[in-house]
Amino acid sequence: MPLVNLSGSKGRLVLSTLLICAIVFESAYCQKDVKEQRNTLGRKPMQSKPTGKSINKGSRAVTAKPKIHVAAQRQTFLTQVLNRRTFKKVGETISVQAGDTLELRCRGKPVQWSVPSYLEEEDDGRLRMVQHERYGVLTLLNTTAADTGEYTCYPMYCDDTNCRKDYDKAVKVFVFFPDPQELFVPSSDYYKVIQLRTNWPTVLPCQVTSPEAKVTLHREFPPVEVAVDGTEISFNVKKGFVIHRPRPYHTGALYCVASLGNLRQSSTKYMLIYVNYPMAPPAPVIQASSSSLVVGENLHVSCTVVGEQDVAVEFTWEYPGQQIGRPPYTQESISSVGGGAARQRSQSVLLVDEVRDVDQGTYTCTAQNLQGATSVSTSVKVVPKAKPRKP
Ligand SMILES: *[C@@H]1O[C@H](CO)[C@@H](O)[C@H](O)[C@H]1NC(C)=O
Repeated sequence: MPLVNLSGSKGRLVLSTLLICAIVFESAYCQKDVKEQRNTLGRKPMQSKPTGKSINKGSRAVTAKPKIHVAAQRQTFLTQVLNRRTFKKVGETISVQAGDTLELRCRGKPVQWSVPSYLEEEDDGRLRMVQHERYGVLTLLNTTAADTGEYTCYPMYCDDTNCRKDYDKAVKVFVFFPDPQELFVPSSDYYKVIQLRTNWPTVLPCQVTSPEAKVTLHREFPPVEVAVDGTEISFNVKKGFVIHRPRPYHTGALYCVASLGNLRQSSTKYMLIYVNYPMAPPAPVIQASSSSLVVGENLHVSCTVVGEQDVAVEFTWEYPGQQIGRPPYTQESISSVGGGAARQRSQSVLLVDEVRDVDQGTYTCTAQNLQGATSVSTSVKVVPKAKPRKP
């Protein structure tokens, strides 16, 4: 998807906006949008949104404001180091005030860590991972709201030659970095285009920096709050809003609003576009006009897919004549199939005029849609012209 990147030049940004607008939205709305965007540029330092990813090295420890002081527990895999002598077993989530240091300690020799992806990409020296004899320590200095995300420790199992992650023993903690100025994890995108795919849960990633923030979902036109019933749409404090079964009526411009105390902030805007997404890869059927031809006859091989309406299928061919440079000569067509559920027939026909010996062999058709590709083959025999011969 073309995501607008604010770190680019202003001109480019506005141009991409217009392009996206031209494709997706009505111009009145878009012009307003571009104006707003200009006003927003340069307001705050742009930071990417964290998402989980893997990193090599590892050990963990987190430091935050001292809350509960618990003596180190040997059996605990992941602990937060609150100060030199105080360790706290971590639960599913912890909060560390933005600006403070996160220090996590993870038992294992060695361990690997995974951190929000933007931290991995931008190595600004704030993140340190140190392996001690029996545990690893992860330290993140001068934390910001953007560091909010999942931190995972993988104990490693090593033999003489190599080490592998033990995914079953992985310990995760979701760390919030509440910032009195930023209720949402800052994003470099002023808005984000999101594809809604049929039967495919979609996340509106308005990630809050504090688990205490109250978050609501809003539609821009008409300006209404979107009902979040927990079934069709639900809110997950570690992800944002999830649309479980996208439907065409979910399309449009949406945004999240978070409130905490006196503060109320809007998230990045999400432009939801509906895409007809196939349920499965295509199931093509191949058929040759004849499995045995005489030199000089014409051959056509058809490849047919009957599938969901408005789902594009792309065909590619492999055939014996390719080796001698015969160009593919195909005819493609789409027609609708009658019946209850709207289905369509997509077909590609490969035509070979006046077959020769070299056209004998296997004909393979590959049909592809957004879910995947399927190949089917058939073989064709070419026999010499029967010469009129006397016995
Ligand atoms: C953390 O912030 C302090 C104070 O602003 C600064 O001196 C120090 O260099 C920063 N450390 C890192 C690793 O960014």
